Amino acid sequence: MKTLREYIKQAEEKGVAIGHFNISNLEGLRGIYNAAKKISALGGSAFGGKLPVIIGLSEGEEKFVGRAEGVALINAIRNRDNYPIFLNADHHSSFESVKNAIDAGFDMVIIDGAKLSFEDNVKITKECVDYARSVNKDTGRDVLVEAELGYIGSGSDIKDTIPEGAGILTTPKDALKFVQDTGIDLFAPSVGSIHGLIKSGKPHINADLVTEIKKVTGIPLVLHGGSGLRDEDFTNAIQAGISVVHINSEIRLADRDAVKKAIEENPNEIVPAKILQPAVDAIEKIVYERLKLFNGVK
Ligand code: G3H
Ligand code: ZN
Repeated sequence: MKTLREYIKQAEEKGVAIGHFNISNLEGLRGIYNAAKKISALGGSAFGGKLPVIIGLSEGEEKFVGRAEGVALINAIRNRDNYPIFLNADHHSSFESVKNAIDAGFDMVIIDGAKLSFEDNVKITKECVDYARSVNKDTGRDVLVEAELGYIGSGSDIKDTIPEGAGILTTPKDALKFVQDTGIDLFAPSVGSIHGLIKSGKPHINADLVTEIKKVTGIPLVLHGGSGLRDEDFTNAIQAGISVVHINSEIRLADRDAVKKAIEENPNEIVPAKILQPAVDAIEKIVYERLKLFNGVK
């Protein structure tokens, strides 16, 4: 099987994006994996056979699922099915938590210093990159490090309005300096999206800015805050140079609503598998559509 780095390279070359979806429970993992397998079976993706997919665990999600448990789940599926499913430590905010994730066996990590000053963001990111490189050298693994510059708001939740300070776009000049100073593998710039579902609407992606940042940095770019964006925002962004797209809030909402509906419709049901299956199905439906779009599958 190819490494995650190789799959991302392939996505870059083919002008498609790998889907990154966060989980908090088995329903999420099953829904996402079912969707990825179904699209793989359709054929016609840029990857030829099995469609790669990345599962994200933020610090909070990792705490709830369990760090070792998350790694064990993803590795078990990958090894059993020989399927390119990978695990990312999403939005980790300290060197310690990044180090713990790397040591536990995550395939990639995101050090999120977006709220820090440029200098402090570079400093903490560099520390994480150096650690990942040393682990890779000692173990033969290839843990990837991503970092974010330009605050796009925190939390995959429902927001009334765009949070203060969020949405300031990353300049190509800062992007280049940040990438050069840190040596990261993937870069998450602020290009118009905001984390979460915004009640008052979702801003558009500035695809020209994506093109410029891609041109100057030359490394794979990641789009965060995908929930609620229109299809053409995704396709334009991917065409402009986005190689990984993150979705979380849409999954959380679908999960919550499906369970709520199942309980309301059958208040005497107490078998978890029966109450929770609709959540798996609802998540699968969302991820299926997103993955088709990201990968140009008709
Ligand atoms: O890292 C997670 C994502 O960027 C999720 O963003 O909640 O808008 O889907 P979202
Ligand atoms: Zn994010």
